[in-house]
Amino acid sequence: MTAPLATGTEQAITAIGLTKSYGDKLVLDGIDLRIPEGTVFALLGPNGAGKTTTVQILSTLVAADSGQAWVAGHDLTRDSDAVRAAIGVTGQFSAVDNLLTAEENLLLMADLHHLPRREGRRRAAGLLRRFDLTEAAAKPAATCSGGMRRKLDLAMTLVGEPRVIFLDEPTTGLDPRSRRTMWEIIRGLVDDEGVTVFLTTQYLEEADRLADRIAVLDRGRLVAEGTADELKRRVPGGHIRLRFADPGGLESAAALFGPVTRQDTEALTLSVPSDGGVTTLRAVLDVLEYASVEAAELTVHTPDLDDVFLTLTERPGHSAQPGHAPGGPKENAR
Ligand SMILES: Nc1ncnc2c1ncn2[C@@H]1O[C@H](COP(=O)(O)OP(=O)(O)OP(=O)(O)O)[C@@H](O)[C@H]1O
Ligand SMILES: [Mg+2]
Repeated sequence: MTAPLATGTEQAITAIGLTKSYGDKLVLDGIDLRIPEGTVFALLGPNGAGKTTTVQILSTLVAADSGQAWVAGHDLTRDSDAVRAAIGVTGQFSAVDNLLTAEENLLLMADLHHLPRREGRRRAAGLLRRFDLTEAAAKPAATCSGGMRRKLDLAMTLVGEPRVIFLDEPTTGLDPRSRRTMWEIIRGLVDDEGVTVFLTTQYLEEADRLADRIAVLDRGRLVAEGTADELKRRVPGGHIRLRFADPGGLESAAALFGPVTRQDTEALTLSVPSDGGVTTLRAVLDVLEYASVEAAELTVHTPDLDDVFLTLTERPGHSAQPGHAPGGPKENAR
């Protein structure tokens, strides 16, 4: 496949039609990506979807079978040394040497980057401070907590001052506070230094909070891409819930909106499917007003990324969520 070089060098990461098989198993089936500089991109997907494989290909650790990619302005296959010099990778499994102290781990990375001793020590000290790891500096990494080790892992990636960082499940196993600290660190890298972050995650909240754009990978194909809000609008589950003061009001409203709605006659609520947009909301209110039906309460429910994930990666024969019928609201009105 040919593409003008400019296509690939405009963005921090561009991929066109990447494929990869292991034996007769097709792991990546034509992946296209365009990730602008200074943004966070999150790749979501169930276990075995091909997330780590994508990271391994884009970080030159594994060769794709076909397709083209550019990372940090360099052609992945023709200029892989330049790509390696511009990127940092924090793998799904830690690169921390448990027998070394945190500081020694960082200095080892500085050596691998051929930094002069003094510069290596300066960067190591800066990273220990920034990641709040000074306490761990002189302790063997084995005695650090999981959260500290994960931070050290990321700090090690930053020794080479990469412009593009790949983080494969950076917060797996972290407690909620450590996870938030990681998010702040990652967001800081992007906002303060214009670094580009490509991360994979199983945590939808992480993608929601951190990523500028999200793609969902399922069985080697990108099944959706967009901002968190765009993705949420794509799946069923959004609805406007109306509560009425009496059964008469509920009945009249149910007649107005027809069979797409769900009623709860005990709670006196009616759920009308909605894309969460203002236009739909206004239309619902107009219909009620025109018919002089008064609702006591109105709430708008937008699907969350869990809905997106479960809907887009649904397995035939395994309904991801009971009642998750296309076009209908996910929850029953209560
Ligand atoms: N070196 C390898 N040899 C053979 N098969 C492999 C190899 N690496 C990955 N695979 C297969 O490729 C598929 C995708 O694996 P990958 O590790 O990319 O998934 P993932 O999305 O990162 O999953 P997880 O969420 O579990 O980390 C899996 O079926 C896996 O078994
Ligand atoms: Mg993985």
